[in-house]
Amino acid sequence: MANIFPRWSNLLPLKIAVCAGSAAAGVALAFAYYATPKAQVVGYQPSQPIPFSHKIHVDQLGLDCRYCHSFVDVAGHSNVPTGNTCWNCHQHVQRESPKLAPLHKSMDPAFPGYDGKPIEWVRIHKSPDYVYFNHSAHVNRGISCQSCHGDVHKMEVVWQDQPHSMGWCLECHRAPEKHLRPLEEVYNFNYGDADVTKYSRDQSVKTTQDLGLKLKEQFQVKPKESCATCHH
Ligand code: HEC
Ligand code: HEC
Ligand code: HEC
Ligand code: HEC
Ligand code: HEC
Repeated sequence: MANIFPRWSNLLPLKIAVCAGSAAAGVALAFAYYATPKAQVVGYQPSQPIPFSHKIHVDQLGLDCRYCHSFVDVAGHSNVPTGNTCWNCHQHVQRESPKLAPLHKSMDPAFPGYDGKPIEWVRIHKSPDYVYFNHSAHVNRGISCQSCHGDVHKMEVVWQDQPHSMGWCLECHRAPEKHLRPLEEVYNFNYGDADVTKYSRDQSVKTTQDLGLKLKEQFQVKPKESCATCHH
């Protein structure tokens, strides 16, 4: 028989069954779970195989996000860099740091215990399989990493800063002007009201939100809200 429901709806019967089968307490718990997506993921901060600091590499050394996350503006998926990217610098810099032992194990044939295996970073942000998300469609339309990932440039250890729930996606799709920036500012984590006059001589445009509204009209930015946008 043809499957008339989209694939993501397969989970729903299971959820209904779980709820129906449990006692009142279980139902209350299930409700709390779905009613508060924020508590589920915001703040998730696993420890990583190497204590890599965005604060050092972005804020202090001034590296651009795209130096390491090189697919983010050309593909749907944002990659995490391979050991080669780190090795470019760390075959010369901080060679003796014990924190970099896993990098040497992966990249340095002269290192005792070398195995050439990739570093296993623990993934932090993950949408469910039934959600379609695309990075380049956002950053190339003036949405910054900062809107969705927070102040990563100040993080010693990355955590999930925003809920990434359906309600959260829709909040911005309904009012993108709060977040829209000129494309030149998407990777600038210090962007603020002081930058606005660079882009508009109009006296009434004073804040990043005023400018966002202008950009929305000028470039006809209209994020969709239909279910098929995010659930194929
Ligand atoms: C020198 C390389 C490098 C630079 C530059 C860099 N990152 Fe990363 N990023 C990493 C590595 C390695 C990881 C995986 C380890 C970790 O989570 O710290 C990572 C992880 C992340 C994650 C979490 C990924 C997940 O698992 O969900 C986000 C979000 C992120 N970076 C955003 C940014 C942003 C935004 C910038 C620019 C402000 C940036 N990064 C600059 C190397 C880099
Ligand atoms: C552009 C060059 C460059 C790249 C690329 C780079 N680093 Fe670094 N990294 C540095 C420099 C320079 C320092 C020292 C900063 C300081 O001491 O203030 C450093 C410091 C570190 C430290 C701290 C070492 C200690 O003992 O305090 C770690 C860990 C580290 N880097 C891991 C990584 C990893 C993992 C990657 C790849 C995802 C990476 N770095 C990519 C230049 C780089
Ligand atoms: C509109 C919101 C949004 C913007 C803007 C955004 N991200 Fe993401 N990011 C997400 C979501 C949602 C996920 C989880 C995606 C998934 O599971 O497929 C994610 C995942 C990631 C990951 C983890 C991917 C993996 O496979 O481990 C990295 C790294 C990342 N983002 C980096 C960035 C960087 C760097 C920027 C800016 C250049 C950026 N993101 C801009 C929402 C966003
Ligand atoms: C901070 C604002 C913001 C957030 C948060 C956001 N979006 Fe978007 N989204 C946009 C904008 C702006 C566009 C581009 C609209 C346009 O091109 O007119 C867009 C476009 C899209 C598109 C169309 C992409 C394409 O290929 O054409 C999809 C799919 C999408 N968003 C999914 C998501 C999902 C899923 C989430 C939550 C995980 C999310 N968005 C969160 C602002 C946002
Ligand atoms: C802008 C993107 C976007 C749009 C548009 C959207 N969704 Fe979602 N939807 C999501 C995301 C992201 C999740 C996953 C939320 C999470 O992980 O907490 C989700 C989850 C769901 C779930 C599972 C909920 C659960 O409790 O697990 C259902 C059902 C759903 N969406 C139905 C719909 C329907 C019906 C529409 C149209 C009215 C729609 N969605 C429109 C992004 C979207």
